Amino acid sequence: MKLKFALRTTASAAVLCGAASMAMAAEVEVLHWWTSGGEAAALNVLKEDLEGKGVTWQDMPVAGGSGVEAMTVLRARVTSGNPPTAVQMLGFDIKDWAAEGFLGDLSEVADAEGWDAVVPPALQEFSRYDGKWIAAPVNVHSTNWMWINKAALDAAGGEAPETWEDLIVVLDAMKANGIVPLAHGGQAWQDGTIFDSVVLGLGADFYRTAIIEQDPEALGSEMMVEAFKRMEVLRGYFDENFSGRDWNLASAMVINGEAGMQAMGDWAKGEFVKAEQVPGEDFLCIRFPGTQGHVLFNSDQFAMFDVSDEKREAQMMMASAVMDPSFQVAFNLVKGSVPARTDIPDTEFDMCGKKGMADLAEAAANGTLQGSMAHGHGASSNIKSAIFDVVTAHLNGEYSAEEAAEELVAAVEAAK
Ligand code: BGC
Repeated sequence: MKLKFALRTTASAAVLCGAASMAMAAEVEVLHWWTSGGEAAALNVLKEDLEGKGVTWQDMPVAGGSGVEAMTVLRARVTSGNPPTAVQMLGFDIKDWAAEGFLGDLSEVADAEGWDAVVPPALQEFSRYDGKWIAAPVNVHSTNWMWINKAALDAAGGEAPETWEDLIVVLDAMKANGIVPLAHGGQAWQDGTIFDSVVLGLGADFYRTAIIEQDPEALGSEMMVEAFKRMEVLRGYFDENFSGRDWNLASAMVINGEAGMQAMGDWAKGEFVKAEQVPGEDFLCIRFPGTQGHVLFNSDQFAMFDVSDEKREAQMMMASAVMDPSFQVAFNLVKGSVPARTDIPDTEFDMCGKKGMADLAEAAANGTLQGSMAHGHGASSNIKSAIFDVVTAHLNGEYSAEEAAEELVAAVEAAK
């Protein structure tokens, strides 16, 4: 099956489409969690791209930010012997499914299209297993961002915060102005997303030893107690209805001026763009104070399950489409993320996209790029859940900062 050549030229694409329709229409069933306004708009770019290439899209959305629920549904589907053809997946989950022997091999298309040379090594770590390509990366997201309502910031003194201390000054000013300073949704993964940034803000080495290496000493250190204290400080700026709120509703609060800012990954930008807000005019994107120069990344990849030959053709077409340079531009403009390929110019991106691309390149070159724990790239799923449990329990007042650091050591140890 020499799909690779067919995929890049119109003439042979027609041949391929012909072949596909003879073998019954090519169809992909895609399990994903892109259900917010911005996410659905980005998903539509992919869906339309594939439909334009003759691949029918069967949608399998499972709502729930960061894919926790989607992964539960996936497990049930695979256990019942009926895996979807393609699945949106994050870092360690991809490796786990590969280790269990469930994923198909994309190497034919990957080798023919030279993915090796254009996908950064930090991503390849999760898209390859045992020498084979097992997933196609569609983007690079990053979690250590803040999204700020520009008018609210202007009213609060106009200075975007660069340090933790600056952040507190701005949050206090926003509070004094009668808005919710920090929009947040109390769900474990959102708590974990802020925790990612707070830990990084206390030092990149601290993030590495505590989160990536899970060194018990770092996990139980004074610095970790400080991280939990900072979480308590931030909690003081949430509104009283934060519990259980979806992340995109928190973004909407910033968009409509009810809240001043949100600490969230750059999928939040998709919501601002969907609401026709302009970066620099209506909203600002800054790195979480104290983390400029550092990037906590995660990448959405499409893992393909090992399925029958007749579905394999559509899988390869989808993998190729996802990695197509012009598709990566079109998709990531809407999604808020940046391309997963290093050979794409930033020309068409807005100022946040340009900043995202520049920050990523700089971090990759300087060794300041690390995987996001909260989004599956810093620690295995078990350890991530263990950290989430402690972070959320502490945020909800079950532990003091000191107790939380102790619990964290025990929870991570038990999950190893
Ligand atoms: C994914 C994003 C998604 C976000 C919220 C992250 O883990 O990488 O694509 O938009 O979760 O659902």
